[in-house]
Amino acid sequence: MDKRQSTQLLFELHKSGRRSHRLPASDVPAQPIDKLIPKQHLADKPLPLPEVAESDVLRHFVNLSTLNMSVDTNFYPLGSCTMKYNPKRHERLASLSGIVNLHPLQPDASTQGMLELLYGMQEYLGEIAGLPAVSLQPSAGAQGELAALLVAAAYFRDKGQKRTKVLVPDSAHGTNPASAVIAGFEVITVKSDEHGLVDFNDLKAKLSPETAVFMITNPNTCGLFETKILEITKIVHDVGGLIYLDGANMNAIVGRTRPGDFGADMMHYNVHKTFTGPHGAGGPGAGPIAVRDFLAPYLPAPLVVKNNDGTYALDFDRPKSVGRVRSFNGNIGILVRGYIYIRTLGPEGLKEISEQAVLNANYLLALLKDHYEVPNGDRCMHEFVASARKDRRERRVSAMDIAKRLLDYGFHAPTVYFPLIVPEALMMEPTETESKETLDAFADALIKMKSEDPALLQAAPTTLAICRPDEAKAAREPILKWTSLESRL
Ligand SMILES: Cc1ncc(COP(=O)(O)O)c(C=O)c1O
Repeated sequence: MDKRQSTQLLFELHKSGRRSHRLPASDVPAQPIDKLIPKQHLADKPLPLPEVAESDVLRHFVNLSTLNMSVDTNFYPLGSCTMKYNPKRHERLASLSGIVNLHPLQPDASTQGMLELLYGMQEYLGEIAGLPAVSLQPSAGAQGELAALLVAAAYFRDKGQKRTKVLVPDSAHGTNPASAVIAGFEVITVKSDEHGLVDFNDLKAKLSPETAVFMITNPNTCGLFETKILEITKIVHDVGGLIYLDGANMNAIVGRTRPGDFGADMMHYNVHKTFTGPHGAGGPGAGPIAVRDFLAPYLPAPLVVKNNDGTYALDFDRPKSVGRVRSFNGNIGILVRGYIYIRTLGPEGLKEISEQAVLNANYLLALLKDHYEVPNGDRCMHEFVASARKDRRERRVSAMDIAKRLLDYGFHAPTVYFPLIVPEALMMEPTETESKETLDAFADALIKMKSEDPALLQAAPTTLAICRPDEAKAAREPILKWTSLESRL
């Protein structure tokens, strides 16, 4: 394929007079355009819209779709993101007209089916969490964190307690401290110990009557279960604080243990991770939160409730609620897919997910640990963090070079440079949906790279249409409107 051709925009394929379709002749009298649209809103010359043939349009979009990596096309071991296969059955069911043609402002009486589904989802998520009160509103994990911290703030305010501090481990995802700051708290960082777990003594020393919440990820971002979780939750509760569980890693424990049972008071789910909502490139997502009963009054309103007569309704009458965190009732398309997934698997199936996810990660770890340093463990949960520190020191090959070279082998890169406590981190999460053959091929590629010329790795990927974009420039100087290729060269 001509790489340049495949990345040309439709504007660049423009040839005057080319057509894909002919519109039928108008069957209403023509109106002068400036009678319909005020003059000041009209362009002074015709817009330079592309004129292209149907085959140009078709090839353009089909070729573009092949430039991307996706779970449907490639192994995607992006740690912490749980890029598991998205069953196509969900797509079919989520696009049933009874679902996609609903309007969120329809009266409850006309949306009973959807309300029943959402109520069921609240119930399932409450049961899986061991935390019975659920809001489906947040659109992603990060928004779930913020919503739950607002709930905690409202709770302490209501109790007349001035608690201003949120404690966050240094291995946490960056959204944790960001959410705490946005919710108005001061963030205190808790160190990790030499095993990659929460440093218990450091946590103890930093707890005080001003502690509002300790945010913990379990299993943590090193792919390790916090062995002292019961002691941790106890000492936080002993000072009157709440435990927030970052549920991004639920895939490792779903159906095996419940955050509420090991002491969490609030948590978010990433439905787009654990329950197969398709995601990537920033969305879409769903980050419902589950909390203990005593926090339920503060949850975002409305919640879906079941009336005594068996009908369902949206309950807006929640005077202590923190209010809406999102329009309407959440990201319904993703919640529907998650609901179908949970219903399809049932309790036994959910247990199998975590078992298989942990098994796959440990298998991959066993294949790689003699070749790559894995600072925190012989064993892992659903993911592990290798380090390219030695490659960097001895061959000037960085985690980024390795990640980029994997693209040449037809694999999506693992997560790199996270968690921050592991230098040159390569965080790998194979998920339960990958076969032994895929994991073997992936490990072979990583091992083969060890003997490849560093120059090749530093230049990788060499087989793709786009090689090494300047990511900092792209983030700092985004080009958000079309300009011709010529003017950019
Ligand atoms: C550990 C952890 N916490 C929180 C988040 C935030 O979740 P989301 O991307 O759904 O906002 C992520 C995202 O990858 C994560 O890995």
